Amino acid sequence: MLHVIHHPLIAEELTILRDPACSSAEFRQRIRRIASLMVPAVTAHLPTAVVACNTPLELSSGTKVTRRITLVPILRAGLGFLDGFLDLIPQASVAHIGLARNQQTLEAEPYYMKHPAVMQDDEVIILDPMLATGGSAVEAVRSLTNAGARHIRFACLVAAPEGVALLGQAYPNLPIHTACLDRCLDDHGYILPGLGDAGDRLFGTCA
Ligand code: PRP
Ligand code: URA
Repeated sequence: MLHVIHHPLIAEELTILRDPACSSAEFRQRIRRIASLMVPAVTAHLPTAVVACNTPLELSSGTKVTRRITLVPILRAGLGFLDGFLDLIPQASVAHIGLARNQQTLEAEPYYMKHPAVMQDDEVIILDPMLATGGSAVEAVRSLTNAGARHIRFACLVAAPEGVALLGQAYPNLPIHTACLDRCLDDHGYILPGLGDAGDRLFGTCA
């Protein structure tokens, strides 16, 4: 289930982000801003309950979100997305998944995982700017499902059709939110037009 978030501010930020002249410092700022702009769309479905609410004038009724939110950045590039989500959802828990794409096979190799002990009632939002082959996303969903998560969605900045297809085949009911659906992958598994290696650009580790 692919949801493309169309918003003029996101589209403009992404255009500037794609430019190789965008420095790491600016890249970090802009990706954080885009993440915040995506939060309303990614969380619009959250279940709520009516609660009593005091105002200075009277007892009224208000709203409470009834599901704990657990954000799951995929290391490293997912960290670039995390702060923008935490800016708007500071009460969220954060789980971390470390996955590195093998540059030869393009397969996602797990190297770290730390999550809340119980996640079955949580709204679990996986964060990764790039959905390329989809291998990392499938591995992340698999690990979180094995760890007990039942309400999982995936948020990315740029998605390739190949990654959307792989994730959709593996998990047909999983919502995928992206700011942009790009054209395709190149022979090395990079998204076209894409924005290059998101982790390297975020952390200044480009060759
Ligand atoms: C990048 C990106 C995704 C993954 C996407 O991570 O951040 O996690 O590739 O590719 P896929 O859909 O083909 O699996 P990478 O493995 O390069 O690690 P990094 O974030 O540490 O740079
Ligand atoms: N990972 C990235 O960082 N960029 C791509 O284009 C593909 C995978």
